[in-house]
Amino acid sequence: MQIIIASNYEDMSRKAADVIAAQLKEKPDTILGLATGSTPIGLYAELVNDCDAGLISFADVESFNLDEYRGLDGTHDQSYRYFMNHHLFDHVDIDKARTHVPDGSNPDSDTACAEYEHAIAAAGGVDLQLLGLGHNGHVGFNEPADHFPVDTHIVDLTESTIQANSRLFDSIDDVPRQAYTMGIGTIMKAASILVVANGADKANIIAEAFTGPVVPSVPASVLQLHPRVTVIVNEEAGAVIKDRL
Ligand code: GLP
Repeated sequence: MQIIIASNYEDMSRKAADVIAAQLKEKPDTILGLATGSTPIGLYAELVNDCDAGLISFADVESFNLDEYRGLDGTHDQSYRYFMNHHLFDHVDIDKARTHVPDGSNPDSDTACAEYEHAIAAAGGVDLQLLGLGHNGHVGFNEPADHFPVDTHIVDLTESTIQANSRLFDSIDDVPRQAYTMGIGTIMKAASILVVANGADKANIIAEAFTGPVVPSVPASVLQLHPRVTVIVNEEAGAVIKDRL
């Protein structure tokens, strides 16, 4: 695991964009795993600039997002499909038909999740998976648990996640209570993984996840077992782990 402490949010975003840009140059038909949350917004803006400048192209890329709220369809402004269109897909040369987000509008969770898992496998698996990190160590929407969930599945969101994500909704009552998410097994099958984290409120969980024991109560800790992980954090998010490296 390579841990890079960037100087600030802009530096973190640029360094992370560089990892993705290098991947696209090496393999134009990359299968990209993508993430939402506020952390990757800056790196998506960098990728849009790179694409505008003709430095990279998404023309042959296929993408799979980590997760989606159950019950929101892609036109809802808090759906992760909407987020991806708004921050990346609408501004680059990607074929939208080859961008995938779990189907939150399908109430049949078994079918929605099985179809998603199958689509990832049929595409040949993810080459590079981008991840953010929840305050409790969740990745995608894999919340702390007593086991590592393997495949794409439905989850009940924890109170802390509902609370954290309520800042984006009109009221906490509007936050969906469930989501569909790639499993830890789905994520671990990616050939390489890029984690980004920003802010002092992530400093403890970054240190716990990447220097503490590998336990399902801290889902991101499993990434210690993956052979190709790069973690890029800003200075505040790296404040605790920097003394443990
Ligand atoms: C949500 C998403 C995660 C994301 C996390 C952190 O819960 N499901 O994929 O990593 O939020 O978000 P932020 O980057 O806003 O801190």
